[in-house]
Amino acid sequence: MGFSIAEFSSIREWVQSATEKLHSAGLNASKLEAQMLVAHALGKDRTFVIIHGDDLFETRLADELLTRRLGHEPLAYILGWREFYGRRFRVDRSVLIPRHETEVLVEETLALGSDCSSGCRLLDVGTGSGCIAITLKLERPNWDVWAVDISCSAIQTARENAETLGADVCLRHSDLFDQLGGMKFDMIVSNPPYIGKDESLPKEVREFEPEAALFADDGGLAIYRRIADEYRTFLNPGGWLLLEIGQTQGEALLSLFSGSRLVADLDGNPRVLVVPRDMPK
Ligand SMILES: C[S@@+](CC[C@H](N)C(=O)[O-])C[C@H]1O[C@@H](n2cnc3c(N)ncnc32)[C@H](O)[C@@H]1O
Repeated sequence: MGFSIAEFSSIREWVQSATEKLHSAGLNASKLEAQMLVAHALGKDRTFVIIHGDDLFETRLADELLTRRLGHEPLAYILGWREFYGRRFRVDRSVLIPRHETEVLVEETLALGSDCSSGCRLLDVGTGSGCIAITLKLERPNWDVWAVDISCSAIQTARENAETLGADVCLRHSDLFDQLGGMKFDMIVSNPPYIGKDESLPKEVREFEPEAALFADDGGLAIYRRIADEYRTFLNPGGWLLLEIGQTQGEALLSLFSGSRLVADLDGNPRVLVVPRDMPK
């Protein structure tokens, strides 16, 4: 049943055939994805694939990658990387794939931290691939950046990304603030798990991304509640907490964190909650 692809094919023909299969499987951006898959199989970039359409190649590896994608495995896990804030982060199934929406959290943190000319100590809670903490360290080299995650394998991946990208970030295995006793930060940022366990999700998210990165009890609010109970102990006076939030959680979180305000993403959806440690006088 199904398809058969010749052992050898021109790059152009393979891309065309793969594009059709991806499209039929309901995967959008199918031509771009087909080009990325064959580029990865050849160890080249997409420009090479476009320029060398007539080249013949042995298709076995590209076919295997295509089969994985047709099974709805996210492209980022197949390629082993995803771009975030203009940099390439290594990802595997131990970490959430960085999302473009999360760049709003980074932008807002950079804007709030512009006062910290003499440096700032910042903590990223639930760092995953390390995309937030590493980006902030690279954008503001004089900041002292710390990051924690409950997943040891995520910490390992974040460490590899920090090394590859040359970011000096202190990484610790910790359940929220548990291993940070006595420390104080000027800013705490987090993109915690916030999806309710019964929410419907695309197959490529639910079946492939780590459960601990996605879901939280209490309709997705459980980790926010724990953060709300503890964050003040770890923030210096005048400090800020910034949280990525789910589209529908704005009202609930505005009441959970007093004095907070919402920032929208480019689609106009509430995306980041900004919480001052101290209420304005
Ligand atoms: C939504 S992912 C965010 C990953 C990354 N910061 C990003 O924005 O792509 C949430 C992360 O929080 C971590 N996490 C979940 N519960 C945690 C807890 N109790 N303490 C620390 N980290 C936790 C997960 O392992 C996961 O890496």
